[in-house]
Amino acid sequence: MEIARIRGGLPLRGKVRIEGSKNAVLPIIAASILADGACVLRDVPRLDDVNSIRDVMLSLGADIRQLGARSMLCDTSGIRSSEPPYELVRRMRASFLVMGPLLAKLGYARMSLPGGCAIGSRPIDLHLKGFVQLGASVCLGNGYVQVAAPRGLYGNRIYLDYPSVGATENTMMAAVLARGSTFIENAAEEPEIVDLANFLSNMGADIRGAGTNLVRIDGVRRLQPVEYTVIPDRIEAGTYLVAAAISGGEVFVENVVPEHLKPVMAKLRETGARVYEQNETAVAASAGRRPLAVDIKTLPYPGFPTDMQPQMMALMCVACGTSIITESVFENRFMHVPEMKRMGAHIKIEGRSAIVRGAPRVWGAQVKATDLRAGAALLLLATRAEGVTEVSGLEHIDRGYVDFVPKLRSLGVDVERVTVT
Ligand code: EPZ
Repeated sequence: MEIARIRGGLPLRGKVRIEGSKNAVLPIIAASILADGACVLRDVPRLDDVNSIRDVMLSLGADIRQLGARSMLCDTSGIRSSEPPYELVRRMRASFLVMGPLLAKLGYARMSLPGGCAIGSRPIDLHLKGFVQLGASVCLGNGYVQVAAPRGLYGNRIYLDYPSVGATENTMMAAVLARGSTFIENAAEEPEIVDLANFLSNMGADIRGAGTNLVRIDGVRRLQPVEYTVIPDRIEAGTYLVAAAISGGEVFVENVVPEHLKPVMAKLRETGARVYEQNETAVAASAGRRPLAVDIKTLPYPGFPTDMQPQMMALMCVACGTSIITESVFENRFMHVPEMKRMGAHIKIEGRSAIVRGAPRVWGAQVKATDLRAGAALLLLATRAEGVTEVSGLEHIDRGYVDFVPKLRSLGVDVERVTVT
């Protein structure tokens, strides 16, 4: 088993180049199914989750190839199957994003129901609602879901009960080749939705309103393959900005879209950190004195992102005062709390809120990552802890962060990744 061993107490200082966004590239790779031919994607992060969706695409008959360090060729002209294997789909929930494109392109898809995970049950009812309202039939049984539209899909007005990112993406991808107009109401507004819409529009789709809560899609007959560069990962960037604040250092994150970081920058400023846009593509954060406690409530974009909640909780563990952190997006995203308490943090969970009483010191301990953001948060807290922290469960971190340990070391953290029996 591999662990990260960190000796805390050193401030992080330096620059980090941010990778392409995991949560943008996964739906975009799925959307390449809709093109007649080979797309070339740039700024594709080398992540386990990208490998997972690549394997799903390969199982369908696509030709997916790495072109250099950060580019990927996705030739889907050879796709013949609409039934990715169980073991591949179970590996990563986002594999379900191929459902909408397969339904639109081939009129049929069958795959294992995506599992829940550490942070919640992760239902797909809103994805299926979108498919049904576009004219597909849905059949559930034996742990599988099958969707079919032998006579094609027809535009419709679809209301999402919750602004689900995945349901917005799957419905958008299903609607681009449908006959007529589709309106997605209460759509998710995340930057990753806009990036997917831009990719689809570059291929010839007719999409308006992406990034707002009302998205209009007018179906077209065909989509052409394109070259496309994925937006930077706002969560990776936010993670390193919090790392600067928690360790008392200063970090410049480069290759970012500052607009996408606004919620995180605003909350970090409230804690007393100095956060500023160095230019159009770089933001820096440096710690004030000990961070001030702030209350945080996670919300769909442009609210504070749930994917940054564990990282901010790590910062609040060493803040002056008491912080109330409310997780309104997922029902079980506090699995990192017991691990942080092993390091001496004072946290009490009350329903969907965690009450964090900040302390001047935390101590190194053996802790375990339960999901990718929890793992990142534990590593951040370890940079501040007195003594040595050993973090296991690094496979979670490898799903969403490229070279996290080497990048932390390049910023001055005394950290090594070691294999222990
Ligand atoms: C995406 O997941 C991201 N993953 C998540 O990032 C992120 O936390 C989440 O959006 C929220 O921003 C990818 O983009 C690959 P949702 P997704 O559908 O699409 C409920 C990370 O760390 N819901 O917006 O699965 C659901 O239960 C990951 O990178 C339904 O009720 O999120 C949840 O409470 C973690 N029915 C809420 O919506 C549905 O059909 C938000 O889920 C779908 C969702």
